[in-house]
Amino acid sequence: MLLLLVLSLCAVSLCGGSARASGEGRVLVAYFSLWGNSGYPEGADATSSASLLETGGTRIGTTEYAARVVGGLTGGELYAIRTTDKYPADFDAVIEANHDEIDRGYLSPLSGALPDMSEYDAVFIGYPVWANTAPRAVVSFIKECGGLAGKTVVPFCTHDGYGSGRSYAEIFSAAPDAGRHEGIDIDARGVPDARGRIIEWLRSIGMARKAEAAETRKITITAAGRSLYGVLFDTPLAREIAARMPLTVSMVGYGGREYYGGLDFTPQTEAEGRLRFDDGDITYSPTNNTLAIFYAQTDRPNLTMEVIPIGRVTSDLKIFDTLGGREDFTFAAAE
Ligand SMILES: Cc1cc2nc3c(=O)[nH]c(=O)nc-3n(C[C@H](O)[C@H](O)[C@H](O)COP(=O)(O)O)c2cc1C
Repeated sequence: MLLLLVLSLCAVSLCGGSARASGEGRVLVAYFSLWGNSGYPEGADATSSASLLETGGTRIGTTEYAARVVGGLTGGELYAIRTTDKYPADFDAVIEANHDEIDRGYLSPLSGALPDMSEYDAVFIGYPVWANTAPRAVVSFIKECGGLAGKTVVPFCTHDGYGSGRSYAEIFSAAPDAGRHEGIDIDARGVPDARGRIIEWLRSIGMARKAEAAETRKITITAAGRSLYGVLFDTPLAREIAARMPLTVSMVGYGGREYYGGLDFTPQTEAEGRLRFDDGDITYSPTNNTLAIFYAQTDRPNLTMEVIPIGRVTSDLKIFDTLGGREDFTFAAAE
């Protein structure tokens, strides 16, 4: 299971200074990686050690790489979970040590100061999947942090192809008095290219405010001779749709809350959808291949059909109240 992922000068968003930028207040991104918790000899390189990534020549753990992306997109502060006991340098010996900890129900104490949890509302927890669940160090962290009671816990994990296993269930059961969001699992080989997926996941759980502010392109939307401004997110799906602009879609008003209309092409990019909207959302629905703009009733945000946010109207939404039952909407890149 030797993992070799060599990256050259790969752009990683480093953790921003503010912990207040996300949709759920202040964010901590705690992560555990084997690198930093094992007895790798000095000078170990990515070709001779498991679970290492190189970015600009620096070695970091696979999960740490993903954690930096999550930190950058949420404005969260990074915290490296480190165990007092170091794992062996030999990969098979780590597997054995992990099984031994599970069998004995042993939780290694953590080294270093714990974060001041009163500072945070949401806690992302990143880890490599070990034996189909989370490493014991992650359980140690949650327990040492009082079960993260009152926080919102958001797991994310990397793995070698077998998925998240029962790790989410284990994490949520260690934090019974915490809120939770569905996690994301990323195959280790795909971590360097996972940024788009991570953005879509963060957006689907309403935790990507910083990403949305930073990762947008401006567009104009014209309908009935009037112009609106908006932004498209920098996601693979939004980029695919943006490539068709200027794009005119005949849309009908529905339910006093949205205009929607069918596309004459079918985007090929798959993305996670959600069953709710915010006013101003521009969304794509794969179910009926439609684009929609939501403009009212965000206080009743639940939908019966999944939508994938691809952008947002930034102009005053009152204009939608004045439009007819069917209008041609033209989406174009802003000059
Ligand atoms: C002890 C141990 C157990 C593992 N068990 C699994 C597993 O059950 N399923 C899987 O897909 N990958 C498994 N892996 C692979 C890691 O999850 C994967 O390489 C991960 O991306 C490493 O992340 P890191 O560099 O942050 O430690 C295991 C690795 C180790 C060291």
